[in-house]
Parts: sequence; C-alpha cells; structure tokens
Amino acid sequence: MTTILAFESSADETAVAVVKDGDQVLSSAVATQINSHQRFGGIVPEVASRHHLEWINRTLDQALKTAQVTPSQIDAVAVTYGPGLVGSLLVGLMAGKTFAMAHHLPLIPVNHLAGHLAAANFNEPIRYPALALMVSGGHTELVYMKEENSFEILGETYDDAAGESYDKVGRLLDLPYPAGKAIDELAQQGTATIRFPQAMAHEDNYDFSFSGLKSAVINYVHHAEQKGESVPRDDLAASFQEAVIRALVARTRKALTDFPVRSFVLGGGVAANRGLRTALQALLADFPATRFIPVPLAYTGDNAAMIAAAGYFNYKVGRFAGLDLNTAPGLDFELYEAKS
Ligand code: KG4
Ligand code: ZN
Repeated sequence: MTTILAFESSADETAVAVVKDGDQVLSSAVATQINSHQRFGGIVPEVASRHHLEWINRTLDQALKTAQVTPSQIDAVAVTYGPGLVGSLLVGLMAGKTFAMAHHLPLIPVNHLAGHLAAANFNEPIRYPALALMVSGGHTELVYMKEENSFEILGETYDDAAGESYDKVGRLLDLPYPAGKAIDELAQQGTATIRFPQAMAHEDNYDFSFSGLKSAVINYVHHAEQKGESVPRDDLAASFQEAVIRALVARTRKALTDFPVRSFVLGGGVAANRGLRTALQALLADFPATRFIPVPLAYTGDNAAMIAAAGYFNYKVGRFAGLDLNTAPGLDFELYEAKS
C-alpha cells in the first residue's frame, strides 16, 4: 500500500491531497482564488503567488486532517513542477520539498498535464494503449499513450486552447472569468442556430485551431449590434459550443480510427463540459473496443489528487527528483518523457 501526499499550485488553485495506491482519494483540499482574479478577467500572476503562499499551509493541514493520516504514514511527496506560472509553481514545489525533507520522504516530480489525464483512474483504471483528449485553459491536445507514463502528442492547437476560447467568448458575453461553465449552462438552454465555420476542417491531421472561431463569434455579435439586432445569448452560446465540440469530435474520431486503443480518456478543465461529454459518449458508440473514461466531474478542474495519481505512476518506476528540482513553466508531454 502506497500513500502519496501531493501539492498542486500551477495556476489559481492551491491544492493538497492524500491518495492511496493512485486511485483511492483520502482527501483532496482545494483553495480557489477565482474571486480575486475575476475583476481582472484572468489570472494575475503576482496575486496568484501571494494567495498560494497564504493558503498552502492551511490547505496542507486540511488535507492531512481529512485523510486522517500523519506524516509517518506517507510514503512519498508528489509535486507539480510544470507547466504553469513560475511564481505559483514555486510555492507548491517549495512546500513539497520542505515536507519531503523534513520527513525524509522521496520527492516525485509531476507534469500537471499528466495529472489531468491520470485523474481518469478515479473513474476506472485506464487500459493501454490509450488515447486522451486533454482540454484545459492552456492546452488542447490529442495524446497517444502506449503504456503508463508514455505520452505522444498526435495533435494540438495552433493558437487558442479550447478553454481559452470559452473564456474569451465569455468576456464578450460579460460573463465572469472563467466562463466555461456558464457558457456550457447557457448552451444547454439555447439552440445552435448559427453555423460557425470549423478551422482546418479539411486538413488531414489531428490539430486544432480556435482563434478563428472566437473571432467569428465576436464579428457576428458586432455585426448584429451594428444592425441594431440582438442575438439571444443562449443561442449564441449553443452555436459556439457546437462548433468547439464539432472540431474536438472530428479530430478525436480520426485519431481513434487511426490508433485503435483500449481506453479513451477525457481530461482537463473543459472535460467538465456537458455537451462535450455527451458528444464523445455518442462517438464512442462507433468504437466498441474502446472504453470511454472521462475524468469524474469532481476532478476535471485543477486539484492535487490528480497529481498524486500521476505521481503514483512515477513512484512505481522509481522516477524521483532531488531537492534541486526546479519549476518548468513551459513543460509539455514530450519534454516530460524525454526527461525520464
Ligand atoms: O484544467 P483547468 O482547471 O486549468 C488549466 O490547467 O488550464 O481548466 C480551466 C479551463 C477554463 O478555461 C474554464 O473556462 C474551462 O476549463 N472550463 C470549461 C468548463 N468548466 C471549466 N469549459 C467548458 N465547459 C465547462 N463546463
Ligand atoms: Zn489544469
């Protein structure tokens, strides 16, 4: 039995968790700072770092208390070292190192993106080979996983990430940051009456592009305003969401066709999207040999339980880090694998 304590502070969530054997969550404490960033319409790095500093110890106390474990019952400490904001990452990294040093525990370096995907194990065990659609505020990638801890990026976005496009369209609709959830809810009430074009629809690859869609939505609204017409917000949200989902589903279909896999994992903040989950569930009906394993809703957003889950993979193969571990703000999957 392996108990891992994990720290996550790459963006605007200060999180600490205790997870047993990679899939039993004993505690997952998350302190969110969204309220502090909302009035700026995005994360302010300096504000984020200060909040992490203020909250990290309290979050750690809460995670240990809820899990009812003492430091002597912990086997290793997992920390997110990238990608993310350097000042934010540093706080969790220093906390993890300090805890590891004080209690003579091994330190496990974890890629935040690997964490988002590993959280699928809280739903059911990922079987390999697997394909993953990683959709968050900073990333949109189709990833082939030959085996545990192995990541090959098949395709990614040329410009905006899917979550980023939700947040930008949200600004246009005067919705508070981050707008993904609110647009998703509006979309459920509306009808996709406007057919926005899908970028690169005819290209033979697994890549994405969302900045053209965002511009198309903005232009549509401005034109309507100039003509004195009002666009129903719910229909606009439904139309935008339909276009995002259409692109994600088309590329996923191609990847699933070209790479037969046992599991298909959906992870990252945008994995909470109801329309996307439903559309992918329907797509998977065409791939009966592949299990659809979306990350449970409670773990799609940033949390530390997912870092412990990914940390457990590293623990099993003895991939540890020294106390000289540094942050890697621009880390991606390929860099991660190259490091092992
Ligand atoms: O993974 P995450 O919590 O942080 C990053 O690592 O980026 O993802 C945050 C992103 C935001 O852009 C947010 O608007 C989006 O996930 N998001 C959603 C939904 N819930 C969160 N996007 C679409 N539909 C949702 N229900
Ligand atoms: Zn994230």
